[in-house]
Amino acid sequence: MEEKIFIPEKIKAHTGGRRYSTDALGKSGASVYIYDDMVLKTEKYSPEFDTQIKLYEWLGGKLPVPELIEWDIADGMSYMLTSRISGHNGCDKDMLDHPETLTELLAKGLKMLWDTDITGCPRENTYDVMLSQMKKRIDSAPASLEGICRENGFSDAYELFGYLDSHRPGYDPVFSHGDFCLPNIFFENNTVSGFIDIGNAGISDRYSDISDCLRSLRRNTDGTFGKVIDGFDPDMLFEKLGISPDREKIRFFDLIESVFF
Ligand SMILES: Nc1ncnc2c1ncn2[C@@H]1O[C@H](COP(=O)(O)OP(=O)(O)O)[C@@H](O)[C@H]1O
Ligand SMILES: [Mg+2]
Repeated sequence: MEEKIFIPEKIKAHTGGRRYSTDALGKSGASVYIYDDMVLKTEKYSPEFDTQIKLYEWLGGKLPVPELIEWDIADGMSYMLTSRISGHNGCDKDMLDHPETLTELLAKGLKMLWDTDITGCPRENTYDVMLSQMKKRIDSAPASLEGICRENGFSDAYELFGYLDSHRPGYDPVFSHGDFCLPNIFFENNTVSGFIDIGNAGISDRYSDISDCLRSLRRNTDGTFGKVIDGFDPDMLFEKLGISPDREKIRFFDLIESVFF
C-alpha cells in the first residue's frame, strides 16, 4: 500500500493522484517517490537546496540530467520534482556482469562531464570546501572515526585531517558530478542516458569523480554491498579513459571519503 505523504499544492498540480513507488536504493536519507515519468525527492530543507535549484537551471541542456519540473519548500522540507531518466543504472546485474561495457560507458560519462563548459557554474567544491566539510564531520563525532583512521595509519581523525590539509594535490578543475557512483548513472542503448542525484555537482578536481567511480566499482563487486563479481578489475576504467592512474590523488580522495562512509 502507498504510504500517505504530504505533497505541497504546487507539486500536486503535476502529480495529482498518480501512483508512485518508493526507492530503497538511495543512501542520503532523502525520500524518493518514483512516478511513471517523474521523480519527487523530499528532504529536510537546507540552504544547499537553493544552490541545487540554481545548478539544475544552469545545467539545463548541457548534459542529460533530469529536467526540473517544479520545486517547493514547506514546513522545513524541500521538494524537488524532476523528470524520470530512462534506462538502467550501473549496479544493474546486466551491467555488473559486463565489466568491459560498464567501464567503457562510465569512462564515456566522465568525459561528457569533463567536456562541459564550467563558466558560470553556481557551485565549486574546492579542496578548502571539501576539507571544511570533512572537519565538520570529524568535530561531530571524532571517536567514531578512530577505527577507520587507524586502519589507514593515523592515530586519530585530527591527525588524518592535518595530513590531508598539508598534502593537497594539484587542482585540475572540471565539471564534477559530485556523487559519481553506479546507482547514479543511467544507461540505455549502449550510451549514458542520464546522470541523477546531482545535488552536490559543481566545479571540482577531475579525480573527485574518478575516485568515486573506482570506489563504487570496487564496493559493488567485492561483496561490500553483498555482490561478489570474480575478476572485476576497477582499474579497467583507466584503460577506457586512456590515462594512467594518479594513485596519490586517489588516496587523497579515498581518505577524505573514509570519514563519511
Ligand atoms: N530522475 C530519476 N530518474 C530515474 N530514477 C531515479 C531518478 N531519481 C531517483 N531515481 C531512483 O531513485 C534512487 C534514489 O534517488 P537519488 O536521487 O539517487 O537519492 P539518494 O540521494 O538517496 O541516493 C536512484 O538510485 C534511482 O534508482
Ligand atoms: Mg543516489
